[in-house]
Amino acid sequence: MKEVKICVGSSCHLKGSYRIIELAKDYIANNNIGDKVNLGAAFCLGHCTDGVTIKIDDEVICGVSPENFKEIFDEKLLKDLD
Ligand code: FES
Repeated sequence: MKEVKICVGSSCHLKGSYRIIELAKDYIANNNIGDKVNLGAAFCLGHCTDGVTIKIDDEVICGVSPENFKEIFDEKLLKDLD
């Protein structure tokens, strides 16, 4: 089981973390990995200036945007589930 947390602290919220949550939900559904991934929200992960910040298991990843989201999830999530 992979834990994916998306920061919804105020700074990341302003940078569009809710959009990332939507994308993550779609991504999980489209790849059929709903039973292997636990998606949730997190409060400030301490990298506000580099948001949107997410955490996949113990790894904190900053600067997540709709543009680079897929690349990050392919690399950090999907690859490890194969
Ligand atoms: S608000 Fe997201 S890291 Fe601080």
